[in-house]
Amino acid sequence: MTSLATDFTSLANIDLPIVQAPIGSATTPQLAAAVSNAGALGMLSLTWRSPSEAREVIRQTRELTDRPFGINLVLHWDPVERLAIALEEGVPIISLSWGDPGPWVEQIHAAGALLVHMVGSTAGAIGAKHAGADAIVVQGYEASGHVEGQTSIMAILPEVVDAVGPTPVLAAGGIGDGRGLAAALCLGASGVWMGTRFLLTEEADAHPEYQGWMVEAGAGDTIHTTLFRGGWPPNTPLRTLHNRSLQLWEEAGRPEPGRGPGEGDVLGHTSKGAPIMRYHDDFPGARTTGDLESMVLYAGQSVGVMHEVLPAAAVVQSVAQQATESLDRLGSHG
Ligand SMILES: Cc1cc2nc3c(=O)[nH]c(=O)nc-3n(C[C@H](O)[C@H](O)[C@H](O)COP(=O)(O)O)c2cc1C
Repeated sequence: MTSLATDFTSLANIDLPIVQAPIGSATTPQLAAAVSNAGALGMLSLTWRSPSEAREVIRQTRELTDRPFGINLVLHWDPVERLAIALEEGVPIISLSWGDPGPWVEQIHAAGALLVHMVGSTAGAIGAKHAGADAIVVQGYEASGHVEGQTSIMAILPEVVDAVGPTPVLAAGGIGDGRGLAAALCLGASGVWMGTRFLLTEEADAHPEYQGWMVEAGAGDTIHTTLFRGGWPPNTPLRTLHNRSLQLWEEAGRPEPGRGPGEGDVLGHTSKGAPIMRYHDDFPGARTTGDLESMVLYAGQSVGVMHEVLPAAAVVQSVAQQATESLDRLGSHG
């Protein structure tokens, strides 16, 4: 049987080359711990949590697992306070994205943690390697969340592997099951960074109706768009299922941002009671109320190979098993 061990699994001290990508507020201690307990790597997104909440979710995760887990910070927001908290709490893997990791490398390494940096291009990957990243995530255009990648993962992944090797490279976007993991390993990746697949888990903070729409959707139901906003630099693209707000905007002749029909509508509320406005980039969490179908419904093109909501541990097991079977099948042709 083919082993799935890679240089990244040794580096990160995990069993399987599968990372649950930081999926914003859908990350929970339960999700990260379940993934890590299953032998993969769970991640918490801290960018938009208050410092006290950031410390709290790290501690909760630590209570649920003895295995390594990581945290992510998006560099469009000042990471100073949350990074210091994560390092004080002894988090072993720090993921940064959307910016220059250089200013943070020394502090992360001094605390004994690893830096994993996400990029969308070969130039970005070379920059991250020179800055001192221990592993590099390359994101393809197929990905969900906000999308830095401008090319397909199939094209960019081997290019980045050639450019930055032997630094381990992880593939993000377009990967929804074990066949995708096997393909990424064949292209030279040391692992995969899967977001949408882990949105479709019982432990993710995502609304069950939204999860149901993802189960029904195929790759062609997702849209790469700059229509939705919220604190990110203007025109940062994201990938969502086609939704009611997009339909409304298209029917109005695709007006300039800020001039769409229903601009300023309150669509509903988060679990904390904060309003969710039309064309904002908040997706429906498990306890969000209101017109969910008009809210952003992040989903990657890989959504079409996902047919059910599963416990996170079952996702890890099935991705690993299917990857092993795929690689064994290829090996038997040799
Ligand atoms: C709901 C959602 C939120 C995300 N939030 C973050 C984030 O906070 N930081 C980050 O670096 N990436 C974030 N991402 C992007 C992921 O890191 C990853 O690149 C992406 O999910 C891979 O594509 P896939 O969803 O098709 O697997 C997010 C993705 C999703 C779906």
